[in-house]
Formats: sequence, C-alpha cells, structure tokens
Amino acid sequence: MTVTSGPASGRTAAPAEAPTHRVALAFEDGVTKFIDCREDQTVADASYRQRINIPLDCRDGACGTCKALCESGDYDGGTYIDDALSPAESADGYALPCCMKPRSDLVLQIAATSDVAKTQAAEFSATVVGLERLSPTTMRLSVEIPNRSELAFLPGQYVNIDVPGTDDGSGSPVRRSYSFANGPHEDTLVFLVKLTPGGAMSTYLTDRASTGDLLTLRGPHGSFFLRESMRPALLLAGGTGLAPILAILRKLRHDGSARRIHLIYGVSTDDDLVETETLDRMQSEVAGFTWDHCVSDPGSSAANKGYVTSLIAPRHLYGGDVATYLCGPPPMVESVRRHFVEAGIEL
Ligand SMILES: Cc1cc2nc3c(=O)[nH]c(=O)nc-3n(C[C@H](O)[C@H](O)[C@H](O)COP(=O)(O)OP(=O)(O)OC[C@H]3O[C@@H](n4cnc5c(N)ncnc54)[C@H](O)[C@@H]3O)c2cc1C
Ligand code: FES
Repeated sequence: MTVTSGPASGRTAAPAEAPTHRVALAFEDGVTKFIDCREDQTVADASYRQRINIPLDCRDGACGTCKALCESGDYDGGTYIDDALSPAESADGYALPCCMKPRSDLVLQIAATSDVAKTQAAEFSATVVGLERLSPTTMRLSVEIPNRSELAFLPGQYVNIDVPGTDDGSGSPVRRSYSFANGPHEDTLVFLVKLTPGGAMSTYLTDRASTGDLLTLRGPHGSFFLRESMRPALLLAGGTGLAPILAILRKLRHDGSARRIHLIYGVSTDDDLVETETLDRMQSEVAGFTWDHCVSDPGSSAANKGYVTSLIAPRHLYGGDVATYLCGPPPMVESVRRHFVEAGIEL
C-alpha cells in the first residue's frame, strides 16, 4: 500500500483563528445540506458536529467509505492510502471528507441519500448461530441479535465485528468489516468470510469459534447499496464481494422485482466459488435475474477462465443506460474501472 497526499492549494498551515468555509453536501436524493467547516477541521468532523452523518468508517483515509466528488472549491486533500482513493480518482476530483480540509467554500457530492445520513451506526450484541465451511477457503457465519428490528440497513452495507480474544495493542479488540449477505428483511444476519491464513478473524473462525459465542457488531456502514430504480443493472462480484450482491438479490426477490439484473461472479480458484446453488435458485425465483461466473486460475474446471471483465458483453450494458454495482478486492475494482474507462462507459 502506498500513502498518498491529496491535492492542496496555496497555503499549507491554517492560521490560529482558522477561517471558516461553507460546505454544501449534495445528497443523491437531491437534498443539499450546508455546514460550516474551519480550515483546520476535516469536512467529516464538521459534518458530524453539525449532526449530519455522512458515510464514514475508518475516519483515517484507509477504507474509502467516505469518498465524495468535489464539484467546486479548493481543499487540502490530507493523507490517505491508495486503496481508499487512487491517484486517478483524486485527479478526477474525488476526495475523502475524513481527510480533506477546505481552503474555500466547497460543493461535495455525497454518495448516499439524506435518509442514510440520518442513520447512526450503533453497537449490537450478537450470538453465533451458524458456522459453515462452504469450501476450503470460505466460511459462512450466521448470527442473531435480540433487537433485530433496531438494525435497519440497506442491501450492500456492512458492519464492523470485534474479533473475540484479540487485542489491537491499545486494549481494544481487533475489528474487521463484513458485508451482510442476508436481505434487510431477514432475521438472521449472514456473512461470507474468505479465510486468510494467519488473519485475526480467519483464525478465530477456523480455530476457536463455536455456536453460542458472543460477538460485538457496529454498523451499519457504507455507501455501496442498491439504489431504487428500474434501470437494468450489471452486478460484478469478486470473491466474497458476492456477499453484498446476495443481500441485493434477496431484497429484489422479497420485493418481487422484475428489474433486469445480470451478475458476473469472478473468483481466483475453484475453492473460492461458493453459493452457486443459491444463485441458481435466485435465477429461477427472481424474474429478470441471470448470472455467469469465471475463475482466473488457468487450472480451473470452470467453463470461463479469466477475469470478470472477459464476460462483460455489449448486451449487458444497454448502450450505457445501466446501473453498475461492483464489489470485490481492490485490484479487481481497479481493473474493472479501467475496462469501463477504456470502453468509454461511466461507472
Ligand atoms: C467495507 C469492507 C467490507 C468487507 N466485507 C468483507 C466480506 O463481506 N467478506 C470478507 O471475506 N471480507 C470482507 N472484507 C475484508 C475483511 O474486513 C478482512 O480484511 C478480511 O476478512 C481479513 O481479515 P482477517 O482478520 O482474517 O485477516 P487479517 O488479520 O487482516 O490478516 C490479513 C493478512 O495479513 C497477514 N497478517 C496478519 N497479521 C500479520 C502480522 N502480524 N504479520 C504479518 N502478516 C500478518 C495475515 O496472514 C493475512 O494474510 C471487507 C473489508 C471492508 C473494508
Ligand atoms: S472514512 Fe475511511 S477513508 Fe474516509
């Protein structure tokens, strides 16, 4: 990972009495909220102090959850890692509100609706009710919480889970993020976890976890979720990036949606290919839904060997009038982004 410093205009240090600027937060549903933000304050801090919960997670330029398009104004982009905001995104005008400090009035496009900005992330106590090894590399973790009705989330969002029996060095447990794979209307919360040898959560799940364990969840977080629309959608999932896509499909099934949806599911090895029966069932139960998959390992037994981009056909793009949902590891996300830019299609 490389650490990047975002664009900064003229001045580098804020004076003692830092000037204040007006920041317009333009939400996806057309609502615009205004906040005052000092030059020595990040936009995220100012917005939280003024009770507007723009999507945030790490607050440290590491996760990319807060990414926003700056439509006008000057700012100091702050310090963050490339995984959170690539140089290309920065050049295109994207910034991280958790790191950016204004140098003039700003207009920011926030990737969430104003409704979402009102939902506070909360803490929930959960009990493990299921631990299934779906394949040598992937686990399905199911948990239940007593106050389930208080955890409203949008399909595509995620929670942070404390890993039991760990310490991050400051006395707090190590935390990892996982996307809901269940639909928002379903009682049991389900997560798909790719097992990373030696990883904190992976080791807990394979070596110590058992049903009845108590877990702490915080959320929901994230601005990746299904937008209401009847436009056809192309869903691209890499590995356990399938989890939020399953949540989206479960919501569509629950709603009786007839929206045209095509999923391309790509994994690295045959062992990583999971939930294929669920997807086949979805195909027979959700009217407009079709799916295909590929495995990048040349030794795979899959019909399609390669990356998800190799399966994107013109018929999936509806001449550009398509909503695209992309979820997977950062290299996959970057390569799909490049593919779309080269094809002249907006993501
Ligand atoms: C928004 C978001 C949503 C996500 N959703 C999902 C999801 O739905 N499903 C999913 O599977 N993942 C998801 N992830 C990734 C997930 O949060 C974890 O990063 C992943 O599961 C690995 O966690 P871990 O604790 O098992 O591994 P980590 O402890 O993070 O370890 C990762 C790697 O580092 C190595 N390592 C760890 N500690 C050391 C050390 N001290 N020295 C050397 N090497 C070390 C490990 O061996 C391993 O290879 C998501 C991430 C984000 C940001
Ligand atoms: S909240 Fe994580 S990058 Fe801003």
